[in-house]
Amino acid sequence: MTRLIEDWIKDIRDDIEKYEEKLVEKTGLNFLSLASNASNIPIDDLLASIKENKIGVIPITSGKGIIGSFASSVEAVLRFMGFDAFVTVDTDVAGMYEAHQRGAAIIFLADDKKFIAINLKKNIFVDNDLATAAGFVSAMEGAAGGNLKDMEILLIGCGKVGKEIVNELQRKNADIVVHDKNKSVLEEMERKGFRVLKDSNHIKKYRWIMDATSTGNWLKKDMLHPAVFIATPGVPISLDFEAYKHYKDRVLHDYLPIGVAVMAAMACK
Ligand SMILES: NC(=O)c1ccc[n+]([C@@H]2O[C@H](COP(=O)([O-])OP(=O)(O)OC[C@H]3O[C@@H](n4cnc5c(N)ncnc54)[C@H](O)[C@@H]3O)[C@@H](O)[C@H]2O)c1
Repeated sequence: MTRLIEDWIKDIRDDIEKYEEKLVEKTGLNFLSLASNASNIPIDDLLASIKENKIGVIPITSGKGIIGSFASSVEAVLRFMGFDAFVTVDTDVAGMYEAHQRGAAIIFLADDKKFIAINLKKNIFVDNDLATAAGFVSAMEGAAGGNLKDMEILLIGCGKVGKEIVNELQRKNADIVVHDKNKSVLEEMERKGFRVLKDSNHIKKYRWIMDATSTGNWLKKDMLHPAVFIATPGVPISLDFEAYKHYKDRVLHDYLPIGVAVMAAMACK
């Protein structure tokens, strides 16, 4: 996991409506329908749960400390979905106590290793890695017209999020090819029976790409299929400036909102 930088997320609170417009343009889905699809909760049940569940977002100071704008960005996404969400004044354990006292049924909290949501009433724990993977796979499904069955999809970056993406794509019966710059990761996937792409010069052959890599600025314009669609939670974004400028209408990337929206839906289940 790459540690977020305030500069990447500071505009989410003010621009969440514009984020959703872009999401709809690229996938045909808004945050609610995407979260409903990714969590397998029918939209009416999700809407009912949103009314019932108050959410507390708790700033955590341990490890490398609080990331500026993180808690308020999470709160903004949740409020945009319709949840009664708040950031606690207190941090850490006192923040958890405050959230409970203020009636939160669900809490969101993150440290350097994990970002989770907990439904306190139902004892449900949701991991951001899984929710992000499910959210971006649903986004890809939307972009592809609603069905990933037998569609050839190249997954680049097979770490924690990438492996969750593979699981989600398998559930959708997609035709998965895996690429990772780490040879041992590729060997492990090959042993498990996956098709692997060893040479990054051949990324260009793939029209549908999911990217969960953790290094930015390495994917160049001439490495990509002219009609490529890329769904990527990778931080920082892999495409360099020129590639992003050229392909931005066919690249779906965000630093937080999709994962948060799906975490909330999964926590309601
Ligand atoms: N946008 C979001 O909401 C969101 C949520 C969770 C994680 N993330 C980000 O997703 C990324 C992946 O997270 P993770 O926890 O799986 O990380 P990870 O370190 O477990 O896995 C990253 C994988 O990508 C591979 N990789 C890195 N650079 C590569 C390159 N240039 N070409 C090919 N493979 C490359 C690595 O070898 C590794 O296997 C991180 O940047 C993380 O911060 C984003």
